[in-house]
Amino acid sequence: MNNFSYERLHNNLQYLKLYTTEELLDNCLELAARDSKTTMEVLDYLFEQERKHREAVAIERRMKSAAFPVKKTLEEFDFEFQSSIDKKVIEDLATLRFVHNTENVVLLGPPGVGKSHIAIALGIEAAKAGFSVYFTNAGNLIERLKIATNEGVLEKKLKDFTKYNLLIIDEIGYLPFDEEGAHCLFQLISKRHEKRSTIFTSNKSYGEWGEIFKDHVIAAAVLDRILYHCTTINIKGESYRLKERKRQGIKTVNSYT
Ligand SMILES: Nc1ncnc2c1ncn2[C@@H]1O[C@H](COP(=O)(O)OP(=O)(O)O)[C@@H](O)[C@H]1O
Ligand SMILES: [Mg+2]
Repeated sequence: MNNFSYERLHNNLQYLKLYTTEELLDNCLELAARDSKTTMEVLDYLFEQERKHREAVAIERRMKSAAFPVKKTLEEFDFEFQSSIDKKVIEDLATLRFVHNTENVVLLGPPGVGKSHIAIALGIEAAKAGFSVYFTNAGNLIERLKIATNEGVLEKKLKDFTKYNLLIIDEIGYLPFDEEGAHCLFQLISKRHEKRSTIFTSNKSYGEWGEIFKDHVIAAAVLDRILYHCTTINIKGESYRLKERKRQGIKTVNSYT
């Protein structure tokens, strides 16, 4: 290859934003000449690396914008400890059919049983598969919607939250909502209904949601939409944190930590 071609090739790869290919090119051509690789093999290798790198960057970007509070995976989840969960149901959810079909998932159970863990793990699977994901806690979400209402930009905020393929609303019911908050959340759930998937976690059974919303009519309307296409996972049993502490031989006063 003459100098002119060499330089033009590098410039074109940069212009086309094929940065990985450009970076690997010299070394790859050298090795190809040494090992008598075919042109097809060289091109295949370079473009495979380019695609892999772009995919990794895109996953990283989606993971960042998902704002997961911690990283949790399904591999790390001890299904034997949490025998009230049917592993097959979680594995089925991990296929992400529910996101394709814009269905919801609700994880119910007392503190420490792994609700947030599973919600985050499913969120990570979705981000890896190319879906836009956002994790938030119910109290925080409602605060933001209320601020948007006060600033007269609720519609825009609702639109922003509706664009995610998968929204995770963690900890519904830890704090009751006031009337305005309940109304904001209802609007968001209505907007996402049958268009996008949402995962909810709550320490309260459905029967107790009326108290969270302090309004049984709104609670019923919210549940009606959520449960239309929904998988509910009812987790019973002991807190995993408590088990960990017991294993370490540390006495605890209560499990609500
Ligand atoms: N079955 C489990 N296997 C492994 N880790 C678990 C399991 N259940 C809970 N944990 C871990 O225990 C801690 C509490 O779980 P978390 O998901 O926050 O509970 P919850 O949201 O139900 O209150 C987390 O660090 C989580 O990763
Ligand atoms: Mg939690």
